[in-house]
Amino acid sequence: MSILEVKNVGKRFGGLQALSDVNLSVAENSVHAIIGPNGAGKSTLLNCLVGKLIPDTGSVMFDGQSVLGRKPYEINQMGISRVFQTPEIFGDLTVMENMLIPCLAKRDGAFQLNGWSRVVGQRDMIDKAEEMLRDMNMIDKRHMPAASMSRGDKRRLEIAMCLAQDPRLLLLDEPTAGMARADTNNTIDLLKQIKDERDITIAIIEHDMHVVFSLAERITVLAQGTPLVEDTPDRIKGHPKVREAYLGESQDAA
Ligand SMILES: Nc1ncnc2c1ncn2[C@@H]1O[C@H](COP(=O)(O)OP(=O)(O)O)[C@@H](O)[C@H]1O
Ligand SMILES: [Mg+2]
Repeated sequence: MSILEVKNVGKRFGGLQALSDVNLSVAENSVHAIIGPNGAGKSTLLNCLVGKLIPDTGSVMFDGQSVLGRKPYEINQMGISRVFQTPEIFGDLTVMENMLIPCLAKRDGAFQLNGWSRVVGQRDMIDKAEEMLRDMNMIDKRHMPAASMSRGDKRRLEIAMCLAQDPRLLLLDEPTAGMARADTNNTIDLLKQIKDERDITIAIIEHDMHVVFSLAERITVLAQGTPLVEDTPDRIKGHPKVREAYLGESQDAA
């Protein structure tokens, strides 16, 4: 069963058709990767899924409900969380203070959210934040300013901040961009662990083919704003159009 259905989505910026005829179906509890060259429209597509952009045409349904026209925080409360391409943590705040932000947002949104009743009081909120940091092996860093951490740890914190909201769909925009190989491998392990331990669907935009082939069950290749092909990793690897349009370039760039 699919949890996310994108149908015929198009988006134009002035004279540029950034997305056209985008159809995408993401199966519940799967990891679905979206790959494609720079400028293919990957981030634009993600922006359309989280209410940051409204497509000119088409529909985006999450769990049978349209996300279009909803504000980002409403989409968040529907169960979609997103890690941005540029880290969105507060560098001057400590790791723990950052972690409390989504817990607070979740508490204040609790009255509108079905089935969420666990994190209600301040003590519960702190417990939840500490539990998340422990899960991420970051509890020892809780008093550090977030800005002083490595890129890998910042990403980890961001992912933890998303997970604190118990999303059903986690969207990641190039989570390993600019990371050292060791941090990238830690991120792969972390995402595998999240996948194993939670009822969660992950849609990931990723440039690093090692990450894609380590995690994805299904891959959509976007080229010039349109899906070129969607298939399993094994078939994507051997697909002539994909090799020509993307993998060749990625190998050079990697
Ligand atoms: N807000 C915007 N205004 C104008 N052009 C944009 C905007 N956002 C993205 N674009 C353009 O749309 C195309 C797709 O961009 P993007 O979705 O960021 O690609 P990707 O994430 O695949 O690298 C690019 O040509 C980019 O310059
Ligand atoms: Mg992008």
